[in-house]
Amino acid sequence: MTTPTHVSIIMDGNGRWAQLHGKERLYGHKAGAESVRMTVRTAAEKGVKYLSLFAFSSENWHRPKTEVDGLMELLAQAVVEETPALVKNNVRLRYIGALSHLPPHVCALLECSVRETAECTGLTVILALSYSGTWDILQAINRYTRDLLANKTDDQVLDIALFESYLSTAGIPPPDLLIRTSGEKRISNYMLWQLAYTELYFTQTLWPDFRSEDFIKALDEYARRERRFGKTGTQCKNNE
Ligand code: IPE
Ligand code: IPE
Ligand code: MG
Repeated sequence: MTTPTHVSIIMDGNGRWAQLHGKERLYGHKAGAESVRMTVRTAAEKGVKYLSLFAFSSENWHRPKTEVDGLMELLAQAVVEETPALVKNNVRLRYIGALSHLPPHVCALLECSVRETAECTGLTVILALSYSGTWDILQAINRYTRDLLANKTDDQVLDIALFESYLSTAGIPPPDLLIRTSGEKRISNYMLWQLAYTELYFTQTLWPDFRSEDFIKALDEYARRERRFGKTGTQCKNNE
């Protein structure tokens, strides 16, 4: 079976899940944390190398303050609680996004977990926090321009490889498979550049209900897809 090297997930549907259970939205976010744990475990077991998780978008800052504050505390709590298990299971943690917008204590805890797991060589989990695709592309252009003006780069013309070296995902292969839960069929300003040739998989399952079986179902579907990258089906079959 072809296992994707990089799986990315837009973890959506926590609010609707809470509503279905007659609870506050934060209850759904708490339940979603369990799905993250299970998914990380299954990804590692299946030999996925990179698992990126869209946890909080740039646009999510516009949600009610109580929800945003609650999400930040949940994040802090999850990082503290999960780091020992990450180290034990050889999982490396990274993040992408405008981290400086997060509360300082949450940033500090994240940085700590990133440091503690830096030597882990198994699965890499990438948390996208205060992240958006447009933010990523703009920060890349701005950093490149700064380097150019400071004569830190001689490359006057951007090519794909050079541009990608400035993206927040530099060094990480693009997602092979993107899963979005909760039935929405949109990208919601996620990795706009990196998703250029990603296989998309949408499921009605709400994120707090997402379990190992759902993940494996997505991996199975991925294995049945033919990725042609612009070539013909015959060329692909003949490995041309
Ligand atoms: C995803 O679930 C979690 C975040 C965006 C932080 P939602 O909170 O968007 O859940 P719905 O879409 O309202 O059901
Ligand atoms: C996308 O979900 C962001 C995350 C899952 C973190 P949203 O719930 O914010 O997306 P929209 O607003 O419905 O497109
Ligand atoms: Mg949503």
